[in-house]
Amino acid sequence: MNEALWALGRGTGIVALIMFTITLVLGITTRSGRPVAGLGRTGVADVHRVAALTGTGLVLAHVGSLYLDPYAQLRLVDFFVPFLGGYRPLWLGLGTVALDLLVVVTLVSLLRHRVGPRLFKTVHLATYALWPVAFLHALGNGTDAGSSWFTGIALACLAAVAAAVGWRLAPSYEGRGHVRTPRRVAR
Ligand code: HEM
Repeated sequence: MNEALWALGRGTGIVALIMFTITLVLGITTRSGRPVAGLGRTGVADVHRVAALTGTGLVLAHVGSLYLDPYAQLRLVDFFVPFLGGYRPLWLGLGTVALDLLVVVTLVSLLRHRVGPRLFKTVHLATYALWPVAFLHALGNGTDAGSSWFTGIALACLAAVAAAVGWRLAPSYEGRGHVRTPRRVAR
């Protein structure tokens, strides 16, 4: 049973990281206003949202199964307050920081129409911190981090995020779609 919980904890953590990688890349694509073949513009935003919610569900399964696994020795406080863990407190604490950011970003996203676009956008920028923090947590805390398949997945995720963020920062990013043009004044 403990072995199963441990495997579930590791597996859900890895798939959550992949989901957040897809979420971040599609978030940047959504913001660009460019359609993706087969999805269109709204389809990209829809997949972005579904990937984010799936990743969030997987993180809940990740912490839940590791909490129930006695070997991981997690306490409830480790879900809220970082760097107090008994084993690899720095790397575990980064997982806690990622979870805290995730809770805030998810709540504000779900209440988007109540909180207004300015707060939504400001809080949503925290996802740029969430991803690298979760990534470092996975590398530092994961049992599988030394294996070649894990390294392959981690490098693929890193390459996808680096390419998307590089595109986001490029002058050509704002070239189409999302940029607002002033309304024409009727004469
Ligand atoms: C956005 C949030 C999080 C993500 C994406 C994430 C992802 C991951 C990944 C990918 C691993 C490596 C799994 C492996 O070695 O196969 C891992 C390991 C681990 N995570 Fe998280 N994690 C998150 C938050 C947390 C939180 C909040 C906690 C607990 C407070 C936690 C506890 C652990 C533990 C104990 C391990 C080591 C499991 C082991 O290999 O024995 N994680 N996490």
